[in-house]
Amino acid sequence: MERLWFSVLLLAAACRGQPCPKRCMCQSLSPSLAILCSKTGLLFVPAAIDRRTVELRLQENFITAVRKKDFANMTGLLHLTLSRNTISQILPSAFSDLRRLRALHLDSNRLTVIKDDHFKGLTNLRHLILANNQLHSISPHAFDDFLSTLEDLDLSYNNLAEVPWETIGRLTNVNTLNMDHNLIENVPHGVFTNLHKLARLDMTSNKLKKIPPDPLFLRIPVYAKSKGSPLSSLVLSFGGNPLHCNCELLWLRRLTREDDLETCASPPDLSAKYFWTIPEEEFICDPPVLTRKSPLTVAMEGHPASLKCKANGDPEPEVHWISPEGRLISNGSRTLVFPNGSLEINVTSLKDLGNFTCIASNAADTDCGTVWNHVQLNHVPGLLCL
Ligand SMILES: *[C@@H]1O[C@H](CO)[C@@H](O)[C@H](O)[C@H]1NC(C)=O
Ligand SMILES: *[C@@H]1O[C@H](CO)[C@@H](O)[C@H](O)[C@H]1NC(C)=O
Ligand SMILES: *[C@@H]1O[C@H](CO)[C@@H](O)[C@H](O)[C@H]1NC(C)=O
Ligand SMILES: *[C@@H]1O[C@H](CO)[C@@H](O)[C@H](O)[C@H]1NC(C)=O
Ligand SMILES: *[C@@H]1O[C@H](CO)[C@@H](O)[C@H](O)[C@H]1NC(C)=O
Repeated sequence: MERLWFSVLLLAAACRGQPCPKRCMCQSLSPSLAILCSKTGLLFVPAAIDRRTVELRLQENFITAVRKKDFANMTGLLHLTLSRNTISQILPSAFSDLRRLRALHLDSNRLTVIKDDHFKGLTNLRHLILANNQLHSISPHAFDDFLSTLEDLDLSYNNLAEVPWETIGRLTNVNTLNMDHNLIENVPHGVFTNLHKLARLDMTSNKLKKIPPDPLFLRIPVYAKSKGSPLSSLVLSFGGNPLHCNCELLWLRRLTREDDLETCASPPDLSAKYFWTIPEEEFICDPPVLTRKSPLTVAMEGHPASLKCKANGDPEPEVHWISPEGRLISNGSRTLVFPNGSLEINVTSLKDLGNFTCIASNAADTDCGTVWNHVQLNHVPGLLCL
């Protein structure tokens, strides 16, 4: 029976020109043609594919690479599934003729990097599924051809420590962003600002200590759980991260949610406690306190000098220096300001005679973290040039 069905399909495809590839099923439902070749032991994309195919399913095979000729001239293809193969290589321009393609499924393969030219030509792409690969790098221009069309991007279950955030921030039509189960440590402030259609953002199981309150989150209601959340809202999932529960996370604690199992990793007295059970008052920041600064520093004119300043606080304070003339010192030809608070002057001059001021600041204001600059001044006794 199956054999007969097969022959009929074969005939149907043959009538349109190209025979159906061996072991595949070809459904010629006029006017569109679908070719289904899942679990057929393929090692390559078959050459005998009708170029007018609209849907092509090649999942659960042993394809290791996609090449330019594989999908050449398939300008009518809308849906391409390559899930669960062993693809580790995308050769340049492999997808460049697929200008109408809407969905590309490449999940459960062995991709490690996405380069700028891999997805060139996919000018209509809506769904890009790259979950469950071994991705550790995505080039900043890899998504350029579909920045304004993409609705759904799935990067979950990869090895990404770095995400091309600037690119993500330009996916203006994106509705769903899955970045869960990666190694992401940082989300830049304001990266989601222009993603007005974002409805689902999954950052579960990464290495995030904090998530900054994005302007987008202030405009639309943010929920921590999808169940019962209104349509025009954003569902944000962030469990399984080593959250540092200080005042900077208070905004997150104030989201609407159902009880869930997110925990805090630090500070010590909140570690392993359930995020949603900790009262708001316990999300505290500590204002900076200068703990160590250089004593009188003596430097010979023309010689290097090193001024030190250390501050404690939660979050880690940022240290800035003001010169004796009252200027904020930045990295320049003569001076380097290090994140640990040290100021290095490589050639001291008479201008450097006087008091340098070290300023340590952090987000410490236990009142909801909206006052971002709590400033503390301290003077380092004079730097003498002999
Ligand atoms: C694609 O079309 C070009 C021009 O019509 C032709 O030369 C080429 O052989 C085609 N390639 C495939 C794989 O069909
Ligand atoms: C000081 O730094 C500048 C810029 O980095 C460099 O050109 C110069 O050679 C340095 N001078 C000394 C003495 O290290
Ligand atoms: C200044 O340069 C040093 C060394 O390159 C770097 O570690 C530091 O982060 C820079 N400081 C600023 C404020 O950019
Ligand atoms: C701060 O960092 C710089 C550069 O890494 C280093 O040279 C300096 O010794 C450090 N200072 C302190 C106080 O640890
Ligand atoms: C530097 O500070 C000390 C004490 O804080 C003060 O006595 C001294 O006059 C200051 N020096 C200058 C040049 O402002």
